[in-house]
Amino acid sequence: METRKILVTSALPNANGSIHLGHLMEHIQTDIWVRFQRMRGHQCIYVCADDTHGTAIMLKAAEQGMDPETLIAGIKDEHEADFRDFLISHDNYYSTHSDENREYATLIYNRLKAAGHIKVKSVNQLYDEQKSLFLADRFIVGGCPRCKAEGQYGDNCEACGATYDATELIEPVSKLSGGVPVLRESEHFFFGLSEFTGFLRTWTRSGTLQDAVANKLSEWLEQGLQDWDISRDAPYFGFEIPGETGKFFYVWLDAPIGYLASFRNYCDRVGAQRSAGDGPDPQQGGVDFDTFWRPDSTAEVHHFIGKDIVNFHALFWPAMLSAAGFRTPTRVHAHGFVTVDGLKMSKSRGTFINARTYLDHLDPEYLRYYFAAKLGGGVDDLDINLDDFVQRVNSDLVGKVVNIASRCAGFIHRQFDGQLAAQVSTGLHDELVARADTIAAHYEQGDYSKAVRDIMAMADQANQYIDEHKPWLMIKQQDQRDRVQQVCSDGLNLFRVIATFLAPILPVLAEKSARFLNVSSLDWAQLPTALTDHRINAFTPLMTRIEGPDVEAMIDAGREAPPPTDKPPAAAQPSTEDSPPGQTIEFDDFAKVDLRVARIVDAQTVDGADKLLQLTLDIGSEQRTVFAGIKAAYEPSELIGRMTVMVANLAPRKMRFGTSEGMVLAAGPGGSDIYLLEPHAGASPGMKVT
Ligand code: 2FM
Ligand code: ZN
Repeated sequence: METRKILVTSALPNANGSIHLGHLMEHIQTDIWVRFQRMRGHQCIYVCADDTHGTAIMLKAAEQGMDPETLIAGIKDEHEADFRDFLISHDNYYSTHSDENREYATLIYNRLKAAGHIKVKSVNQLYDEQKSLFLADRFIVGGCPRCKAEGQYGDNCEACGATYDATELIEPVSKLSGGVPVLRESEHFFFGLSEFTGFLRTWTRSGTLQDAVANKLSEWLEQGLQDWDISRDAPYFGFEIPGETGKFFYVWLDAPIGYLASFRNYCDRVGAQRSAGDGPDPQQGGVDFDTFWRPDSTAEVHHFIGKDIVNFHALFWPAMLSAAGFRTPTRVHAHGFVTVDGLKMSKSRGTFINARTYLDHLDPEYLRYYFAAKLGGGVDDLDINLDDFVQRVNSDLVGKVVNIASRCAGFIHRQFDGQLAAQVSTGLHDELVARADTIAAHYEQGDYSKAVRDIMAMADQANQYIDEHKPWLMIKQQDQRDRVQQVCSDGLNLFRVIATFLAPILPVLAEKSARFLNVSSLDWAQLPTALTDHRINAFTPLMTRIEGPDVEAMIDAGREAPPPTDKPPAAAQPSTEDSPPGQTIEFDDFAKVDLRVARIVDAQTVDGADKLLQLTLDIGSEQRTVFAGIKAAYEPSELIGRMTVMVANLAPRKMRFGTSEGMVLAAGPGGSDIYLLEPHAGASPGMKVT
């Protein structure tokens, strides 16, 4: 088999938050593929970095009273520790805020410019005069130009799905200052993406993408590509565009270039180590940047990413690379999102689980195995069902795989001084070894779930073999002692094959198994060579069961403080934006609820109540007083004149501050994230909500 040269990346995590289950799924998926390639003897280099630029990071640093450089340095340390503890085998973890990245961003930009692919256009953008900042879409809210729903972000309406330009919002407000932004003109730099339509039509259909992804991109290609705005005005945390003042590369321009930068840094580091006589793993061999990135390179480049960023990786990125004289990726492997118990990860439910919270309670290999068992190599979302997670790890890994070793090791160790028999006596060994190519093909295609399924079937067969021969009974008969040694040696050899197949997923289990089997490592190439006439070491537990309470403790630790407890009976108490539906009710029960459109005619703070506002609501026929727990979310003055929806026939309830005569409806996780429900603009007070 020819040795392949493979460079692999995972998407660069943003340097303004912690690593969570979503990142872990991607990095574990990538790492399994990388470890598999290395086991097969290929040169496989895995690089990543933190994605450090942009407005969000600049603002976060300011909020924390530090330089962006200090913020990103701290986050990088945290990210690296998290990935290391999840056994992610990056060869280099770098930063987009690096000299190498500036160098390659500059080089690529200059080449694009020289080839006539950079255009300058004048753009009208909303500007926050108080903060002296052009506002990115997510920092502007206003009314939807189509359906008039209020509080919509600058690029699309969550109420009606319309997409628009932030400048079209009705009465836009800056989320940063609360002020009204003004329109200001500015020159922006664009990459002429539309000129690459023909190239991309071919490239996206050349085996570089999964079919589902290629089909999606075809739709976009048919709709016509827009030129891509690659500049942002100062102040911006990033790289200033060469030859310009106050113009910076948009974070998404230099983020993928971070793959090149991290790899360059790796090549230089390895080169320096080598000339100092302290080279890296000899298996990695020589690493030369140009060998991997020149246009005619026969090396491979693989990017693992989420399906939400395929436009950046399968349109902008290959177009930029090819126009700047670099090779394009061999393959972009896109995956879906992670859900927990069928729902989006949620802080209030404790399912928005950070890497460190997980590690404080559970073994990383449990999660590696569970992801592998469910990853099919497509773009479907992956659900972590917590009960299934516990059950599957315990029954497959502890109950099946480790069980093979533990039930054989004791006999060999105690009765035969650790000595394995002189041969393998079951054909099952060769049968399992013969499935190596099938398992390898599953790994290669990213279809780890099939690999796991096949490997677990092998574990079942190995256990059956031991069950059939019952060494625990044979050992009672003196004349059967040799058979016990033979059957248990067979069992351990079957275990060795299975642990080798699982090694890309479970590197620690593989390492512990190698130590126990007294071999230097579990190698793919060694699969056919059984351990005979060989002394093993004493068995130590290779993996323990997951305990349900540990999972519960992790969920509790990840759960954010619940919404305010100053619970106003006549005010909406939203649970979370994505919580499961509660107890079901009959239609008749629902029909009893009288929902009315109400205009807020007055809103006042309530003396002695931290979380309440006293609202006066006009429902056409009358006015009502309602106490609502929304003080953290709204200034009283901004509520006056707005419409909302109330439960009008709730029995009045006496509170310490007065009587509440109904309940307003709101949604959100709580605290300052509560949003009053607003009826359609055409609704008027008193209208029944149906
Ligand atoms: O979506 C994200 O989190 C980005 N930081 C991914 C960047 S991947 C690459 F292009 F750098
Ligand atoms: Zn709308």
